[in-house]
Amino acid sequence: MNSEQLINTARMLVATDKGLLAMDESNPTCNKRFAALGIPQTEPSRRAYRELIVTSPGLGESISGAILYDESIRQKTSKGTSFVDVLASAGIIPGIKVDTGAKEMAGFPREKVTEGLDGLSGRVLEYARMGARFAKWRAVIAIGSGIPTQACIEANAEALARYAAVCQQSGLVPIVEPEVVMDGPHDLEQCLEVTRCVLHAVFNQLYVQRVLLEGIILKPNMILPGRDCPHQDDVEQVAGATVRCLLRSVPAAVAGIAFLSGGQSGELACDRLNAMNVRFASKMPWPLTFSFARAIQHPALDIWSGHELTAKAAQQALLHRAKCSRAARLGQYTAEMDKT
Ligand code: 13P
Repeated sequence: MNSEQLINTARMLVATDKGLLAMDESNPTCNKRFAALGIPQTEPSRRAYRELIVTSPGLGESISGAILYDESIRQKTSKGTSFVDVLASAGIIPGIKVDTGAKEMAGFPREKVTEGLDGLSGRVLEYARMGARFAKWRAVIAIGSGIPTQACIEANAEALARYAAVCQQSGLVPIVEPEVVMDGPHDLEQCLEVTRCVLHAVFNQLYVQRVLLEGIILKPNMILPGRDCPHQDDVEQVAGATVRCLLRSVPAAVAGIAFLSGGQSGELACDRLNAMNVRFASKMPWPLTFSFARAIQHPALDIWSGHELTAKAAQQALLHRAKCSRAARLGQYTAEMDKT
């Protein structure tokens, strides 16, 4: 394992004024989003949409790394350049989702465990040869009556740590993503408590399985009330609870923290990340940035809707959200940015 190379890549991914773009939707997820907009659910449509994203001019000013999917890491632009090469020449580090999805956990109704460890070392080597320098694995933890169980938390934490060890062995920086999802009526305190337990289990397993913390990036959820909770806390409360939870749970050696957006609007995700960086920058041992999918892509996808004629406007919308996210990473985001 080349620790220096891992640490350098991890540091570049959380560079001072940048963050990550997640564009690693699996084909079923991508198709679901296309179906809602009447876009054909075909390989050529998915390729065209991803080409629009990776060729957005100036994307590299805000984005340090982009997470691809098994289909997109093999795709090319209409001019025949691989997406990996397009990203690299824009100064964006190519990454790859390597889990094979969160599946129902046998014996534990309503809970999921993420699969993909079988054959992982071979796949990781193949992706590394294709130019990927980091990887992603997402575990999904739901809050509800009697859940999450300790069994679900432990099974997911162990898989995340095995994945991280395999990636580091092949020189890829693992993005470790244990997502406590927003669905349900739970409140902010419940999200905080569950996230704290999950992070504790994950870091314990990372330690047990000898993962180099300086060579990983943590991709957590923010601490939020559930979507159906009658009380929705304000930006300052969310920022305070999230930083409190992270300070209690995440070792200082971790290279950086990059949040998922989890269904928040782009504006709200930026506002909350910004508040954390404004209020707590001097208290935090790690850089705090973004690794958004929906909160960067969504206005762009709506505008594009499968039409060549709207591709340029969609790229503008994508760049705007990337710039707002960059501003939030710097603690310089203002609501005014979204009014113009
Ligand atoms: P969202 O930002 O849309 O939550 O997606 C992030 C991600 O990578 C999910 O795995």
